[in-house]
Amino acid sequence: MLRTLTRFFVYVQTESNLKRLSLCSAARTGSAMTEPKLYRPPAEVRGMTSLDKDAFTQTITVPALRVPTGVLNKIVKSLKKSTIQRPGVPRVVQETEESSDSRLLLLDPNRVATPSSFSEAEAEALRSFGVAEELHRYELKLTYDNLKSEEVLEAVLPPGQDVTSAFSRVGHIAHMNLRDHQLPYKNLIGQVIMDKNPGVTCVVNKLNIIDSTYRNFKMEVLAGEENMVAKVKENGVTYEFDFSRVYWNPRLSTEHQRVVQLVKRGDTVFDVFAGVGPFAVPAARSGASVLANDLNPESHRWLQHNCKLNKVEGKVRTFNLDGRAFIQGPLKQELPGLLRGKASVHVVMNLPALALDFLDAFRGLLHQEPPCDHNLPTVHCYGFSKDDNPDTDVVKRASRSLGLPLEDRCSVHFVRNVAPNKDMLCVRFTLPKEVLFCSDEEHAEEPASKRQKCEDTTDSA
Ligand SMILES: C[S@@+](CC[C@H](N)C(=O)[O-])C[C@H]1O[C@@H](n2cnc3c(N)ncnc32)[C@H](O)[C@@H]1O
Repeated sequence: MLRTLTRFFVYVQTESNLKRLSLCSAARTGSAMTEPKLYRPPAEVRGMTSLDKDAFTQTITVPALRVPTGVLNKIVKSLKKSTIQRPGVPRVVQETEESSDSRLLLLDPNRVATPSSFSEAEAEALRSFGVAEELHRYELKLTYDNLKSEEVLEAVLPPGQDVTSAFSRVGHIAHMNLRDHQLPYKNLIGQVIMDKNPGVTCVVNKLNIIDSTYRNFKMEVLAGEENMVAKVKENGVTYEFDFSRVYWNPRLSTEHQRVVQLVKRGDTVFDVFAGVGPFAVPAARSGASVLANDLNPESHRWLQHNCKLNKVEGKVRTFNLDGRAFIQGPLKQELPGLLRGKASVHVVMNLPALALDFLDAFRGLLHQEPPCDHNLPTVHCYGFSKDDNPDTDVVKRASRSLGLPLEDRCSVHFVRNVAPNKDMLCVRFTLPKEVLFCSDEEHAEEPASKRQKCEDTTDSA
């Protein structure tokens, strides 16, 4: 049982949230001072749909050590693991304005219940610096500002339901994907996310599934400003774009970097589904010549903007075409000259829902074989797969689209798991000359039915 030795009230002037404290010391052998879920906000906040920050204010009791100021820094360091760790709560407080020779070190009530809670090393540090292992009780005023977002949401949302407050960060925008049971609280959730994450000034919720053509989401602003023009830095490169009208996924930064690192100065890159430029711009910055295309006029506009922003507009030619028209237009025109050169050619196709189906655009694209095949393009083509064997699945689909088995002539890179049972992969291969060059002049213009025939023949060959 706790034995109260002294009790007095003082005003603390150092911290606004610690207006008034009551202080008492606990006996060395006292029982636990902690309660489970000590930081849990008052029960009245449950079900709140419009944020009332004052309703979260409460006073809790935490253990504290009285430490002479001369050894304070050393003790704070030695007891790092046991001190209180709360947003906005100081670890060290002054008991009274007059008490200049000692301070109170606030401890984590979930770790320290009695003096025996200290580790051997901590107890030894206290002994060696002559600090009494006597726990005092400190009444701490906790406010909304001292709570973490999960603690606020867990206290508000219906008990027993998932309160995950995960979001993707795109510049100043926090992008959420709320579940149905969270929707009645959507504005409160938005406000909490904004309050608890410095730099977030706008919180949006994905309204529906991804737009099938341009891969952008419809979204609703939950809190903050309605400014959707984001500025982000990825792998050291700055991009700007209207997040509500183009595709941007912060989870692809490693993949962008992986591919760009394969590109050397003097190479040429054809980016068929370029978005706002996360492959095209860094590739150009590495010294490659880039032809970048996107069907979405908004993506195309921001792609041009980002080329200027990063001073690579002289290295990037941009197009606003369908991917197939880009392959059969600008790419087809440039390729013959590049095949004769020495530098590598890369074709990037990041539209995972459809890109594998676009590979047939390469069939019989050119009519004359070059004298050697050193510079056949390397294709990096992305695909989703829900198959039990995703690698085999994407290679099979790429082979079908090209009309040539790729099994022994490609590599597959796992990019990320996008949903339960849905992976994103990248198939990389040198575009086979049997695909690129048609022996018969009409091949490129063949109707689909005839092409199918050709495909079957090639597959069985
Ligand atoms: C998944 S995003 C990838 C964007 C960018 N490469 C990246 O990694 O962030 C696919 C892009 O393809 C564009 N797109 C969709 N259908 C297209 C088509 N038929 N032809 C060309 N671009 C298309 C979309 O507008 C979108 O910007």
